[in-house]
Amino acid sequence: MIEEIKKVEQEIKEHLEKINSKEELEKFHNLFLVKKGKIQQLFDRMRELPREEKPAVGKILNELKKLAESRYREIHEKITAEIESTPKVDLTLPGRVNFVGHHHPIYQTMRQMVNIFTELGFKVAEGPEIEDEYHNFDALNFPPDHPARDMQDTFFIKSDKKLLLRTHTSPVQIRVMHSTTPPIRYIMPGRVYRNEAISARSLAEFHQIEGLYINRRVTFAELKGTMIEFSRRMFGENLRFRFRPSFFPFTEPSAELDITCFLCGGKGCRVCKYTGWLEIAGCGMVHPNVLKAENIDPEAYTGFAFGLGIERVAMLLTGIDDIRMFYINDLRVLQQF
Ligand code: DAH
Repeated sequence: MIEEIKKVEQEIKEHLEKINSKEELEKFHNLFLVKKGKIQQLFDRMRELPREEKPAVGKILNELKKLAESRYREIHEKITAEIESTPKVDLTLPGRVNFVGHHHPIYQTMRQMVNIFTELGFKVAEGPEIEDEYHNFDALNFPPDHPARDMQDTFFIKSDKKLLLRTHTSPVQIRVMHSTTPPIRYIMPGRVYRNEAISARSLAEFHQIEGLYINRRVTFAELKGTMIEFSRRMFGENLRFRFRPSFFPFTEPSAELDITCFLCGGKGCRVCKYTGWLEIAGCGMVHPNVLKAENIDPEAYTGFAFGLGIERVAMLLTGIDDIRMFYINDLRVLQQF
């Protein structure tokens, strides 16, 4: 019996030396320390021993059991500590690519334009996209039968025929005149709506930046100076300018501003339709009726106003030649800008 105990003891020692993992330790436990394990089997066999041998053998067996149990506990603790101290994050894994978004080209263009006008001393104001006829048309000196008031051009709100989606940012001029007093120097960026057939050149929803300067003795020369300075900072130094007479109900005189096509240098290309010129803004001196609508005395004050289409500028700067590209939100397009 003593012999057999020695054999098991030897086995236990050999096993212990090889244990390196939780699994191996578990195997050891199952082999020696469970109810039907090798140590318990030896205890069971003590029944066969003569009475007087039992105490001595029992003592040896108990010692063996204690040894096996204490070694088991030690190794268990060691392995658990090792597992806990190993970092759970695998630092050798390649990092995940973080996709960071960026501003939409329309917003980028708008910000660039706003920044330039801010440098020139303009403040920024905003107005509602759902407007009333007074701000969108009446106060801006549109006659009652003006075609722009037609359902074909304007989205009216079904439940209230006096309300509409603003067709331009000009109504914000009226709101600014109402809430402040001259000198007034504001730009007013925002979204506008028109009932237009959608094509590569036009959408029913787009963006404009409006400008307004009202003070004593404001002249057309200042309007020209402002537009020229803005264009140089936005499109480049070597530009030529053309103010063409035009008509808007809310300005008199009115003009449209052309700059030399900066894509072909004025030689003529597809973008400028072989004219060498790009039309970039409508502008003019604020009509006295508009000033009167908001109780500003046209004898004491004059002003100029202008309006720029943001999509048009963004198309020129990005080379995107289909306006719909801005709204499809195809990442292959947007990621380029
Ligand atoms: N509101 C005009 C439009 O949508 C653009 C415009 C032209 C604005 C002349 C102005 C201006 O302030 O003076 O076509």
